[in-house]
Amino acid sequence: MKVTFFGVGYVGLVQAAILADVGHHVVCVDVDQEKVDNLKKGIIPIYEPDLTPIVIENYQNGRLNFTTDAKSGVNHGEIQFIAVGTPPDEDGSADLQYVLAVAEMIATHMQGPKIIIDKSTVPVGTADKVSARVAEVLTSRGVSYAFNVVSNPEFLKEGSAVADCRRPDRIVVGTDSDTVADVLRELYAPFNRNHDRLIVMDIRSAELTKYAANCMLATKISFMNEIANLAERLGADIEAVRLGIGSDSRIGYQFIYPGCGYGGSCFPKDVQALIRTADAIGYQPEVLKSVEAVNYRQKEKLFAMISDHFSGELVGKTFALWGLSFKPNTDDMREAPSRVLMESLWAAGAKVQAYDPEAMQECQRIYGSRSDLALMETAEAALCDVDALVIVTEWQHFRAMDFDLIGDSMSEPVIFDGRNLYEPSRMRKHGITYYSIGRSM
Ligand code: UGA
Repeated sequence: MKVTFFGVGYVGLVQAAILADVGHHVVCVDVDQEKVDNLKKGIIPIYEPDLTPIVIENYQNGRLNFTTDAKSGVNHGEIQFIAVGTPPDEDGSADLQYVLAVAEMIATHMQGPKIIIDKSTVPVGTADKVSARVAEVLTSRGVSYAFNVVSNPEFLKEGSAVADCRRPDRIVVGTDSDTVADVLRELYAPFNRNHDRLIVMDIRSAELTKYAANCMLATKISFMNEIANLAERLGADIEAVRLGIGSDSRIGYQFIYPGCGYGGSCFPKDVQALIRTADAIGYQPEVLKSVEAVNYRQKEKLFAMISDHFSGELVGKTFALWGLSFKPNTDDMREAPSRVLMESLWAAGAKVQAYDPEAMQECQRIYGSRSDLALMETAEAALCDVDALVIVTEWQHFRAMDFDLIGDSMSEPVIFDGRNLYEPSRMRKHGITYYSIGRSM
């Protein structure tokens, strides 16, 4: 099938590449000429495992192409995906200007019927706005081509986006047309094997499903962080509690890891956007507001622990920081707990020696060069002459600790672990003062 994507961000690029990989003919349109030129050369703007070879191979075999020319993009696809960003407005609501600009572009250039798919995470009611905008432009052109607007949210995770796209848990299709549902069934047939993963529903329910999924996951995390904070004060161990409750299949083991708060481009933005949606219709979303409040507090937790340990005397102290990205296997630092921590440490007069396997360039881009931030070549180098080690992101190779190195680099070894990577008893055995989340020392 012939498919067009508007927007080669995370969602657009990955989904476009995977659709091309199974045989569809995909054209990606983006306003950023440099990004388009780079993609043609095989330079991918994001760090995502396994993505680069798929993009290169499908560009070379002609099934995946990139352009800034909206007109040729619109003419190419019977299916037009809108996968542009919906950044938060000043008040936290999703800003729809890019989505609606694409709707306008499609309507301006279309010469026949189109299926227009909202792939971006958009508030309930957006499909109606897209429809209205397309109809308006068609009327002003004096033409009347048939079109359908579909909600087909994306559920991929950064760091495992390729695998998530190839083996989706579900494919949610919001449409009021059986014919359109059949076209999407055909589009996604290569991913819909073994059992039917396509869930067809009305458009508004599909739009709400995306927010509900992310908000439910964020709720699980904030709930666990709340219980962790209680466990710590009650002399219990959250890791034992986690196993104890996860074994109940109604609760499950996934997404109940306590930590130093959730980050990324999705959970913080989507929880906030759903709160704004609720506010706008006069409904008080008590759970969602608490999920957000608990997360803000949790992101400040590492700094509070550090400050307590050093009795507030942080001026001139240096901290090794392992992990800058909001989670492993990505270079993304959007809403990352590391940023809240570093900014608090700097404000208190401390210095940071940071190491991250992928996000150092991104950190440099965000903060530039500053005398209280040193980006180190290795995790070991970051430990040189520091007052304590702080673990913010659970990259795999942080899991095996070199206790000799810790002993050598700090006269009184202290670790603040925001991800519970180590056993407190082993730390005690090695003479390390060890703070973690939800476990009394
Ligand atoms: C999230 C969802 O998991 C995807 O299903 C969704 O499609 C995506 O948002 C989106 O809307 O585009 P992502 O933001 O890539 O994906 O990252 P997650 O793996 O969900 O992690 C989010 C944050 O939660 C991270 O900061 C992570 O450290 C934290 N987390 C996760 C915990 O603190 N505890 C957990 O048990 C799990």
